[in-house]
Amino acid sequence: MRNKAKVLLLLLVIFSLIVTGCTKPNTDTTKPTEQDETKKPEDGKTSGESEVVSSKEGPKGIVKVEEWQEHYPEIVASFNKNSEMKASTYGGSEPHDYLEKYPYLKTFYEGFVFAVQYDRARGHSYALEDVVNTARPKKGASCLDCKVSQYAEALAKDKGAAMANFEEFVKENVTIGFTCYDCHGEEPGVVHLNRAHLISALEKNDNKEQLTSKQTTCAQCHVDYYMTKDENLTTLPWDQGLGCDKAYAHQQANGFYDWEHPKTGAKLIKAQHPETETFEGSVHEKMGLDCITCHMPTVEQDGKKIKSHHWTSPLFTAKESCLSCHFNMDEQGIVKLAESIQKPVVEMTEEVALKLEDYINKLAAKKEDGSLNGENLTKCQDIHREAQFYWDYVFVENGEGFHNNTKQKEYLKHADELIDEGLKLLEV
Ligand code: HEC
Ligand code: HEC
Ligand code: HEC
Ligand code: HEC
Repeated sequence: MRNKAKVLLLLLVIFSLIVTGCTKPNTDTTKPTEQDETKKPEDGKTSGESEVVSSKEGPKGIVKVEEWQEHYPEIVASFNKNSEMKASTYGGSEPHDYLEKYPYLKTFYEGFVFAVQYDRARGHSYALEDVVNTARPKKGASCLDCKVSQYAEALAKDKGAAMANFEEFVKENVTIGFTCYDCHGEEPGVVHLNRAHLISALEKNDNKEQLTSKQTTCAQCHVDYYMTKDENLTTLPWDQGLGCDKAYAHQQANGFYDWEHPKTGAKLIKAQHPETETFEGSVHEKMGLDCITCHMPTVEQDGKKIKSHHWTSPLFTAKESCLSCHFNMDEQGIVKLAESIQKPVVEMTEEVALKLEDYINKLAAKKEDGSLNGENLTKCQDIHREAQFYWDYVFVENGEGFHNNTKQKEYLKHADELIDEGLKLLEV
């Protein structure tokens, strides 16, 4: 319903613009509020349809990408570009060492595996290789959940796979990395879910109506999750809804924590890439867009129009990803506008991080010298837990401030206010 009303409103705006002849090119690329001239095509589709027709013919089971070569040569060629590495101003698919770039992470994640090695994400081609090579210790085989279908299938047969030794499991069972099967099963072109954690989260929560099938394809992996303590099962904290507040409420209700910080004694939770949850409620989501609109635009590959299967920064494909709607801008203009949305979020993330570091150090010192105890110590530890989770929920989101800057600023503000409260408690 809400979408229908919005479409009508937009059509009215566009109509009135045409009537008033007010379709001047937008020269001011730094004012995000002046978006009146942006149109919304029906169904959130970008212009130009794919010329590739899906069919049921082809290899069965989980097979390597190459096996689809003769059936969908252009899509396979596009898919193979996922091994490219290129940085954008704030994101892109070039990996870098987070611990080196953001030294405070060592303080935040002290005592937990993320303090050992933590790199920025890169293309899907590397999903298996990067999880195998990380120096981070692994409790079981669960980290494979968001990397390979062979793990998802093994888990469906036997939940015990989650507790299997990671290295042994990989050696014995994993022959194929990220592949067509992860999104399509045996039918390329048809989206298909095979991740138990998402299927069960959708069953438990009312938000399933809000997630379209195109969003759930990516939500198999681009979501915040945690592993249960006893069974090491990948679980989405979604039973109260989507977003940081809801995830935190879920963790509070369960008293869950990933680890205890050795210096402050706070029981901490690690947030993980909540792209799906962050995008919910954004300007674009309300307009009916989904991940595919921007990340899989229609592109030309070897003379054929296809849905791009190269998942990277849409700012590299601004023409195909954005300009069909933002038609009064050019590529540079829209990239500049996107970056003007990202910058304040990135800067605020850094500011709050430095303040959190200061807070952790002060709390650790007070705990160490014994001048803080009882109820005040507990309060300060709870503040560390909550503020760090809210901060992390923004930091690890891969859109770098683009997907939903309003929501992300609220999360950071909440963390900031909590830290202020904590610093006051530490002064007494
Ligand atoms: C309106 C367009 C749009 C939509 C819709 C969208 N994104 Fe993005 N996404 C972007 C932009 C712009 C960036 C920032 C890229 C940069 O900083 O270079 C981004 C960044 C990312 C990144 C990091 C990529 C990189 O190379 O930096 C991931 C992962 C991602 N988005 C996943 C998703 C998922 C999952 C969804 C659906 C829930 C989604 N996006 C919906 C535009 C979009
Ligand atoms: C089976 C799990 C899985 C699914 C499904 C999946 N992704 Fe990913 N995605 C990953 C992993 C894992 C990485 C990081 C790989 C690495 O760094 O080695 C990644 C990386 C990315 C990147 C590059 C990140 C960067 O910073 O440059 C983008 C963009 C992206 N995914 C978008 C999407 C979109 C859009 C969808 C839905 C169409 C999707 N992904 C579906 C697991 C998945
Ligand atoms: C990360 C998820 C993901 C992976 C992996 C993936 N696809 Fe797709 N694919 C999609 C989505 C989503 C669509 C639907 C796009 C739409 O309807 O707008 C699609 C569309 C298609 C189509 C329909 C034609 C078109 O151009 O839209 C074909 C055929 C296809 N994919 C083949 C493949 C093949 C072959 C592979 C492996 C090389 C593959 N896909 C890997 C998500 C994926
Ligand atoms: C399907 C149409 C469509 C596509 C595709 C699209 N946008 Fe938008 N965009 C809109 C509409 C509609 C608005 C809202 C206009 C308003 O509220 O005044 C908007 C608003 C924005 C805003 C300002 C709002 C905000 O706070 O985020 C930015 C920045 C933006 N788009 C960037 C992009 C970029 C970059 C891309 C490509 C990666 C993109 N858009 C793709 C339709 C689209």
